[in-house]
This record gives sequence, C-alpha cells and structure tokens, in this order.
Amino acid sequence: MLKRAKISVIGAGNIGGECARQIAFKELGDVVLLDIPNKDKPELHMPRGKALDLACCGPVENFDARVTGTFEYEDIKDSDVVVITAGLPRRPGMSRDDLIQVNTGIVKNVSMNVKKYAPNSIVIVVSNPLDAMVYVAWKETGFPASRVMGQAGALDVARYKTFLAWELGVSAEDIQGLLLGGHGDDMVPLPRRTSVNGIPISDLLSADKINACVERAKAGGGEVVKLMGTSAWYAPSAGTVEMVEAIVRDKKRVIASAAYCEDEFGVAPGQKGKGYFVGVPCVLGAGGVERIITFKMDETEQKFMNESISHVKDLVAVVKKMFPEYA
Ligand code: LAC
Repeated sequence: MLKRAKISVIGAGNIGGECARQIAFKELGDVVLLDIPNKDKPELHMPRGKALDLACCGPVENFDARVTGTFEYEDIKDSDVVVITAGLPRRPGMSRDDLIQVNTGIVKNVSMNVKKYAPNSIVIVVSNPLDAMVYVAWKETGFPASRVMGQAGALDVARYKTFLAWELGVSAEDIQGLLLGGHGDDMVPLPRRTSVNGIPISDLLSADKINACVERAKAGGGEVVKLMGTSAWYAPSAGTVEMVEAIVRDKKRVIASAAYCEDEFGVAPGQKGKGYFVGVPCVLGAGGVERIITFKMDETEQKFMNESISHVKDLVAVVKKMFPEYA
C-alpha cells in the first residue's frame, strides 16, 4: 500500500513551527512536531498546541496532512524525513558559533533518539552553528552521509537572490545563483556564476552593487537578529522545506546544502572518513544527498572557500574536544 511521507520536526520553536506549517500547507506528508516540556510551565504542551492550531488550517488551505504534536520520541517512529531545529537561537550580539556548547548537547541527544526511532530517515539539520551540528548528527546517528545534511545554502542563496532582485528590479524567480561554504559570515557567494536567466549579473550591475548584495546576504541572519532580538524563521523554514520537498517528491533539485565532503572542493583531500560538512551544490532526491556537483573554482573563489572550510574545521574541533569519540 502506498503511504504518505512522515516528516518529523524536532523543536517546536519559531523555525520548527513554521517548518511544520509550510510542510502541511504544501501537503508534503504527515507532520509530527516534537519538543520537550517547559520546566517552568508544566501545564503547557507547546507542540500539541501548535499542531492543533495548524491542523485547523486544513479546511481553509485544503490539505489533509495529519499534524500532531508530542513530547515523546516514540511518535517519530519510522519517519521518512526528520528535521532537527532543536537548540537555542541567537540573541543580539551573538554569533552562530556562540551557541556551540549548548546546542551540541541538544543535537547529540536528539540524534540518539532519531537513530533509535527513525533509523531509515533522512535527516536535515537546521540548528546552529550549522556545519558543526550536522557533523554531530552524522556521528551520533551513524547514518550514511547521504542521509544527513544541513540546511544553510537554501536560505543563504534565497537571501542573496532577494537582495539582487531588489537591486535589479526584477523577479526573484529569475535570479540564478549559488553560495557555498560554511553557514557563517564567511560563506562564499559566487557572483561570477550568478545570472538573470543566463545574463551574467556583471553585465547588469556595477561591482560595488554586486558586492553590497553579497555582503548583505552574508550578514543576512545577523541583520534579522538585530531587528527581532532572535533568529530568523520564515526564510530558514522556506529553505528547509525546499529541501524536504526535493526529497519526498524525489525531484533531484540542485540545492546548496551542507553535505559530507572529502575531496570535493578541497575540503579534506584524500582523508577517507575524516571529512566535514560544508555547503556545496547537491542533487537532492529520495536518496537524500544523491550526488555532490563539483566544478573548478577560480583562485579567488577557492581562497574564500578555503577560509570558510577552515572555520568549519575549527568549529568541529570544538565538538571533538567535547566528545572525543567523534574524532
Ligand atoms: C539564519 C540562522 C537561522 O541565518 O542561521 O537566519
């Protein structure tokens, strides 16, 4: 019998709730929203409340996806896709890296439960610092690298395209672009490979204007944190759900995602089993990361990429220090 996809979202905060909403509205599958009880307010059940509220959008939005909320990991049993959003968000003045101590412990615990209850799932990590948290999920679940990935590029590319579209006065849909590397302020946009339906942006915008869009995309997460006092959630969720859709509909979309790399883009050349998760163009389908698309970068691009990779390695080193068994 054919069955609907089961998609579990761990963490029912701003991003988790919005991911659940977008998944349900797009009817990508049944959604399980999981969080832990609020110690200070034990009478509340946030995941169940959000799920109930969301489920009642069905008649208006015309979806039949079942949406449930829970505190119990058993309820994620046999999920096809698990989205991990659990962890603390940023506060003003904080970098994503400042979250590493707390979020490593949280993502470790979530991943142990994913391994136990959803051993065949494809995992998308959203928690920050992203590239290190995907590494934790990979180590802790022991899943093949093709079934563990991080959401960052989808969001960073979306921000980059948005700012370019505003600058150019054209539809954001008509911008093609890529942004690689870690999900930090040293991520690597590739203006040389960005176009408006094939027309290079360098033919349409001055170098200064392109650079301003690049810089704004790189700092886009921080700009939102400054305005709202916490991390963004609409665009991060849109990026995540773009990946979920590519997987459950087996679309073979090419989406920049944090994927396990060794030789690719010079991440960890020749170091079998000792690679890192870095944002690279991935073919996403029913098998998860089915393929990484590589290409030769020019010298400047590779230089920026190397800097970004080295930052990812520093973060993973912190994780390995906390949990030497990951080394
Ligand atoms: C951002 C967070 C979610 O970039 O990493 O907004």
